[in-house]
Amino acid sequence: MRATARAQPNIALIKYWGKRDTNRNLPAVGSISMTLSELHTEMCVELDVSLDEDVLVVNGVENPGLRPRVQSCLDHVLGAGRSRARITSTSNFPVAAGLASSASAFAALVVAAAAAAGQSRTTAELAALAGQASGSAARSLYGGFVELRNRDDDIDVRSLRPGSEWPLSVVIAITTADAKPVGSGAAMEISRRTSPFYARWIDQQETDLADARNAIAARNFAQLAAVAEHNCLKMHSVMWASRPPIVYWNSVTLSCMRAVRELQAAGVGVFFTIDAGPQVKAVCLPDNELRVRDELASVAGVAEVMTSGLGDGAALVGAACPG
Ligand code: PMV
Repeated sequence: MRATARAQPNIALIKYWGKRDTNRNLPAVGSISMTLSELHTEMCVELDVSLDEDVLVVNGVENPGLRPRVQSCLDHVLGAGRSRARITSTSNFPVAAGLASSASAFAALVVAAAAAAGQSRTTAELAALAGQASGSAARSLYGGFVELRNRDDDIDVRSLRPGSEWPLSVVIAITTADAKPVGSGAAMEISRRTSPFYARWIDQQETDLADARNAIAARNFAQLAAVAEHNCLKMHSVMWASRPPIVYWNSVTLSCMRAVRELQAAGVGVFFTIDAGPQVKAVCLPDNELRVRDELASVAGVAEVMTSGLGDGAALVGAACPG
């Protein structure tokens, strides 16, 4: 009745922004991401009939604020009549700050919960369950380059190619460890209702997806860089034009973007992408990782720099709970 799973966050190259069904949390657009190797969340689920209520401990501290989302995810996996659970989550990176901690958390949660209950589910089923909790979490069930497509009233997630076939590096500049001002789910709805650019964003997504899919198939870094930066800036333009505006960046975010531009001007193969938070992720060819890392670490205001390669999808790591 106990299992622990580990999942890695993913970085979206072609972003998901907007929902077509808020009840089932179905995305309005497809997306393409890279699953990381060095950042991870471990989630232990222990089903316990003697508990009166669920207990959630995040990085050693009880967290009643995050509990409702976790409870609803457990209800989806195990059914509403399930036993109460003790859930212990540990991440080796800042949570709720635009580093896709919800992706690794919910991907690990569905794998651990299903195993704790003795269920044998397919990866596709687990991805659909994770996606109901956090759209991007569905992609962390798979490793390497991952595409999420909309299919009828569901999603279809698959790995486009393993990271070992195109081992890119990701350098993450942490510009602040503060929690983000508004969660992505609420922010997407504000954009859908109020941003004049939202409809164009939806219309153009298929073109960007095809472009990125082709770039990954051909391992064409320049092509991937161009479409990923364009898609990222387009998503943030949709947010900025929302009412109220949704601005996740800070001045250090902009300084990091300029540092990446300067590296590009010097001929270094690197591009930036930014999700629903202020952190800048610079994707580069492995040979350039040290240079990109040094450059971003020297930007005034950068608190920390982390590096990662591409990793595997969520997996069970055992029956013991950490700590
Ligand atoms: O999965 P959510 O609800 O945290 O939304 C994630 C949205 C972005 O990170 C901004 C883009 C993406 O595709 O991951």
